[in-house]
Amino acid sequence: MSAPFGRRLCEVAENRASDGYRVFSLRDPEGPEPLPGQFYMLAAARRWDERGGRPFLPRAISVAETAPAAAGVRLDFLVEGVGPGTDRLCALEPGEDVWVTGPLGNAFAEPRRANPGAAGAILVGGGIGIAPLALLRRRFAERGVPLRLLLGFRNREHSGGLELFCGAGGDLCPEVRLASEDGHRGHRGYVTDLLAQMLAGDDARSAVVYSCGPPAMLEAVRTLCAGRGVPCELAMESPMACGFGACFGCAVPKPDGGYLRLCIDGPVVRGEEVAEVAHA
Ligand SMILES: Cc1cc2nc3c(=O)[nH]c(=O)nc-3n(C[C@H](O)[C@H](O)[C@H](O)COP(=O)(O)OP(=O)(O)OC[C@H]3O[C@@H](n4cnc5c(N)ncnc54)[C@H](O)[C@@H]3O)c2cc1C
Ligand code: FES
Repeated sequence: MSAPFGRRLCEVAENRASDGYRVFSLRDPEGPEPLPGQFYMLAAARRWDERGGRPFLPRAISVAETAPAAAGVRLDFLVEGVGPGTDRLCALEPGEDVWVTGPLGNAFAEPRRANPGAAGAILVGGGIGIAPLALLRRRFAERGVPLRLLLGFRNREHSGGLELFCGAGGDLCPEVRLASEDGHRGHRGYVTDLLAQMLAGDDARSAVVYSCGPPAMLEAVRTLCAGRGVPCELAMESPMACGFGACFGCAVPKPDGGYLRLCIDGPVVRGEEVAEVAHA
């Protein structure tokens, strides 16, 4: 689905706290409905250059949910304030305008496209990286794809957005399992501990794993899946200045030499397409 040419102004409909994160919604009267894994380049129309001229460039943010609106679509974003751009997005007020470019990038593939013999999907999200998995979960559930979801957080301050994975009654979807490093929710430890247990079961071998989260977590997912011969798709991040292939700021190395530009060749890549998910 291609994005309208150029950037456009969209109005903020809502902005609410979600534990340590924020969820804000935009009314996008022109935009096409985005696909799970796609992202937008966002910049507040006012007060975007408060901290010594920063952030200056728009910031890449994944779409977490979408719904048809009276005109166009509503777009929901899950954001953690980690610097001048995301802090300003967290502070948006209803009625304010945001410059929007997108939807950009590719999308997660259906399990059968990633693996013709696939029987289901395992979604693995960490921290703010759970955002694109909310829309992916809903799309797979609507298509009857059997799924399991593993979501992990560092601690209470760095968590949020779980309501995006709720069933009709407000409870978490039954297929969700949680992990937290400080033990405040679910398994005490890494979400990849849960994935390792799951991949040890024979039925998991016919699944496709879909993941988004911090680089160290993505690298653990990639190596676990490679070790079990399970295909995986990773939604990756890298610094993005333009979002449409012009600046090469988002390049990551391929295993056989050369580079992928994550904004147009990704952000979703197959595990075997990257040499390694670089992390500190
Ligand atoms: C495709 C894509 C989707 C994204 N989706 C979301 C989302 O849904 N919600 C959300 O909150 N954030 C998301 N991000 C991350 C967000 O765009 C960046 O963290 C952004 O740089 C934050 O801008 P800032 O001005 O707040 O902080 P900055 O000043 O840009 O950075 C703050 C800190 O993060 C580090 N940093 C910034 N960008 C990166 C990077 N790409 N890789 C490693 N370290 C980095 C900096 O070194 C610094 O320590 C996404 C990024 C990409 C590429
Ligand atoms: S962000 Fe400019 S080429 Fe990818």
